[in-house]
Amino acid sequence: MRRACVIGWPVEHSRSPLIHRFWLKQYGIDGAYEKEAVRPEALARFLGSLGAQGFAGANVTLPHKEAALRLAAVADEAARSIGAANTLWFDQAGRLCASNTDAYGFITNLYEQAPSWNDARWPVMVLGAGGAARAILHALLAEGVTRIFLANRTRDRAEALAQTFGPAVEAIDWQDRNRALSGCGLLINATSLGMTGKDPLDIDLAALPKDAVVADIVYSPLETPLLAAARARGNRVVDGLGMLLHQAVPGFERWFGVRPEVTAALRTHVVASLGAA
Ligand SMILES: NC(=O)c1ccc[n+]([C@@H]2O[C@H](COP(=O)([O-])OP(=O)(O)OC[C@H]3O[C@@H](n4cnc5c(N)ncnc54)[C@H](OP(=O)(O)O)[C@@H]3O)[C@@H](O)[C@H]2O)c1
Repeated sequence: MRRACVIGWPVEHSRSPLIHRFWLKQYGIDGAYEKEAVRPEALARFLGSLGAQGFAGANVTLPHKEAALRLAAVADEAARSIGAANTLWFDQAGRLCASNTDAYGFITNLYEQAPSWNDARWPVMVLGAGGAARAILHALLAEGVTRIFLANRTRDRAEALAQTFGPAVEAIDWQDRNRALSGCGLLINATSLGMTGKDPLDIDLAALPKDAVVADIVYSPLETPLLAAARARGNRVVDGLGMLLHQAVPGFERWFGVRPEVTAALRTHVVASLGAA
């Protein structure tokens, strides 16, 4: 039996088991996907014995994503550029390898839900400068986006990211986020605002062109206040659940040898759990 797990502290909230167990059942694979609660100080030892514990690999969630990258023997370009890893596996030489599949998940979902998002090549507005924003910047730049406005409550963090990712990324003041929407073709919320239990994102969409796409990476609730407001004025909207589902694909393929599909049935399965959360 092949086994994988998600490692976090805490780990109870992780939706990854729901996704991977769905696929294990769907493809009739003799495998298991487990939750491992690992304290930060125990991560190095846990990863050092990951293979010996019988795991083919793992997902890594908060707060271990940066440390997992440091502890891996090999890291791909996405993990290095984003500065964090969420997917681990072993290569044929037995070395622990790391990737970050959030960028892949984000961009695959964007193309799926709004295929023509980049046709006009307008500037993109990204809100937030945390780990998810890093992955999104990496994905957008890899797609050839040449102008990105980055607004974050703490401006220093936006500036640090703009420095890391180069001249296509321009940090702007959080207060200027409404005005700067004029002429943008894509708005992305990569903050945690709008999540169940948090304040909604405070934004005025008046200046945003009606044919712009609005994406939220928050997926609980599925229709955030931002998406509801954007939909009401006629903007095309992209919810965050597809990113979560697609980011799981590369890991499952590496551990279990089947490239799984993100289907409507999987979406329904995960949406049902969000309702129950
Ligand atoms: N759909 C998916 O697959 C997926 C993947 C990853 C993450 N996410 C979601 O994306 C969100 C961000 O994740 P993350 O890992 O990037 O988190 P993070 O590193 O903690 O970053 C949080 C971001 O939200 C901003 N923020 C928090 N409270 C705010 C407030 N009251 N006003 C303005 N800005 C505020 C922070 O600004 P400061 O820098 O000023 O604190 C920061 O930019 C979370 O809700 C997470 O669940 C979804």
